[in-house]
Amino acid sequence: MKNIAARIRWCLAVALAAALAFPIAAEPNDGLQGLRAYAAKKGLDLGVAVNFKQMGNARYTAAVAGEFSYITPENEMKWEYIHSLPEGYDWFFGDSLLAFAQANGMKLRGHALVWHSQVARWVQDAAVDKESLLKIVRDHCSTIVAHYRGKVAKWDVANEVVDDKEGLRQSLFYLKAGTDFIDEAFKAARAADPAALLYINDYSVEDICPKSDRLYALVKGMLARGVPIDGVGLQSHWDLDALPSMASVRANIERFAALGLKVDITELDIRFKGPASDERLAAQAAAYAEVLKVALTAKGVSSVTVWGLDDGHSWIRNAFPGYANATLLDKSYAPKPAYRAWLELLKQ
Ligand code: G3I
Repeated sequence: MKNIAARIRWCLAVALAAALAFPIAAEPNDGLQGLRAYAAKKGLDLGVAVNFKQMGNARYTAAVAGEFSYITPENEMKWEYIHSLPEGYDWFFGDSLLAFAQANGMKLRGHALVWHSQVARWVQDAAVDKESLLKIVRDHCSTIVAHYRGKVAKWDVANEVVDDKEGLRQSLFYLKAGTDFIDEAFKAARAADPAALLYINDYSVEDICPKSDRLYALVKGMLARGVPIDGVGLQSHWDLDALPSMASVRANIERFAALGLKVDITELDIRFKGPASDERLAAQAAAYAEVLKVALTAKGVSSVTVWGLDDGHSWIRNAFPGYANATLLDKSYAPKPAYRAWLELLKQ
């Protein structure tokens, strides 16, 4: 898992930046005009999930730092990266990305403390019963959040705990400890850094539907138990040909906001099949504009994060064969119609 080449490349980039005492990002390239500044004037943070292996590429980092005020490590703070062995934590990747964020006046969103996927293999063997599972979760969350105390603004504490069809996901964590693992993760994170905002994050919960109803019920229960939760992350991984109703997305956001919670769009991408024709790109741009309009006007939204900077490094191609084109920039980091639609909206 530890990519030596990426580490060497990164160390050189960070050392150079440190030596120059300038943010790593150069001037905006390829027609990019700095979405983050326009969004900030509207009180909105724009974020992007960053691909660590691209962080040695100055054009990539220029676009990241020029267009966004938040970064989310796409993978490098997940359990199998940061806590791959029981006795040890690997801070290299998270610390490197934090250094980049700080050098460029950005904030970092920690992703994700407890998730059923990409869990280190040792956990399964060590979590022999409820108490041992809860101790593992508490130690994991408190150690990581304490390491980044005062430096990570938001945490995705529990990721994808609601099942797609009924109830909650039958993960190792849930099967051993019921919902207690969720409560304990949030309590440990709060105790480790009272200033960090703590989120529960999920997909296919963006509009009002049975799954988001289950998430809503779970969150209401957490609040009733006094669990320290600050917000809900709506991932928003969408298919251009199966978009949810934006009216329903707005209503869903506002019902969570009515609970006193922040609501973030945390992993937005809008994929489509087939060639990137002008028509398809225009339709994608319209869809991106619609969700940004909701984010700008619905109560409770504090940030919108896109899941990947450009079409050349998006997870979509591997996860959805035949699909692509899901992000704001093309694979040469040039703005697509979706980017221009956001720029126009944010300039208004
Ligand atoms: O780094 C290794 C590389 O060394 C190895 O050669 C290669 C082939 O095995 O795998 C590489 O790791 C891959 C990793 O991405 C980094 O590229 C993993 O196989 C691959 O599974 C992993 O996929 C990530 C996925 O989460 C894992 O479930 C995606 O990049 C990432 O975008 C995606 O993000 C998730 C969010 O965290 C949660 N919400 C859903 C979203 C999409 O699944």
